[in-house]
Amino acid sequence: WGYLGHETVAFIAQNFVSQETSTWAQGILGDDGTSYLASVATWADSYRYTDEGEFTAGFHYIDANDDPPDTCNVDLERDCPEEGCIVSAIANYTSRVQSTTISSTEVQKALKWVIHFLGDIHQPLHDEALEAGGNGIDVTYDGEATNLHHIWDSDMPEQLVGGSSLSDAQTWAENLTTEIKSGSYASSAPSWLDGMDVDDVESSAMVWATETNKFVCSTVMPGGREAVETGDLSGDYYESSIGVIEERIARAGYRLAAWLDLIATGETTLG
Ligand code: ADE
Ligand code: ZN
Ligand code: ZN
Repeated sequence: WGYLGHETVAFIAQNFVSQETSTWAQGILGDDGTSYLASVATWADSYRYTDEGEFTAGFHYIDANDDPPDTCNVDLERDCPEEGCIVSAIANYTSRVQSTTISSTEVQKALKWVIHFLGDIHQPLHDEALEAGGNGIDVTYDGEATNLHHIWDSDMPEQLVGGSSLSDAQTWAENLTTEIKSGSYASSAPSWLDGMDVDDVESSAMVWATETNKFVCSTVMPGGREAVETGDLSGDYYESSIGVIEERIARAGYRLAAWLDLIATGETTLG
């Protein structure tokens, strides 16, 4: 996701974490302000483009199957290379944020990665191999030449919200929080935590990746790549995708809250 998506996921999580978790995270981050999770949610994207952080570029995705819309699945053995992928990165940094033997700087980085990667794993094209998650699929959006990955990360969320600022993220998060608590997601939200086990992080992350990858077949490329390479995607294609994007962001935020509760306190009242 772009800034808007990651910050929205983080604000939703802020709305759902327990008081104890909130205090724990604020302590690690050294920030007791109103955006303590949101303001670090995109740090991992700046870091990956530094020389020092280059090794983390592959941690933002898993290159799963590459034959949509016929096949959508994720296979850890097949898809996660030795150097790592988003599933193994979530496992590694979930463990490191709980470590008592590494420096506080490293614990803080681990928390920033967990916040970021729980967002990315819910973007369908971060669980897809074809043309580097659609980065190599040229599309037209609102008259501009761009690529399929970018419109899912940024253009479509920004069209919905009408901006990409931190306050736009906060507003979107408030709306999605209401949908989770008492709106269209209220009846399904408890089941979003099914399969979540902080003692088996890879299995938990595989549940999220597998669920998210299915949308590549059903929603991102239901007509194959040729269909998205034709025409302007800011109309009908946007309309058929935006509901999925909203729910992906809502799920990521709610799951991040429960995940942080489990890391910080061993339990969550959510679900
Ligand atoms: N680079 C290679 N595969 C990618 C993916 N699925 N998402 C983002 N960047 C990638
Ligand atoms: Zn992306
Ligand atoms: Zn990322």
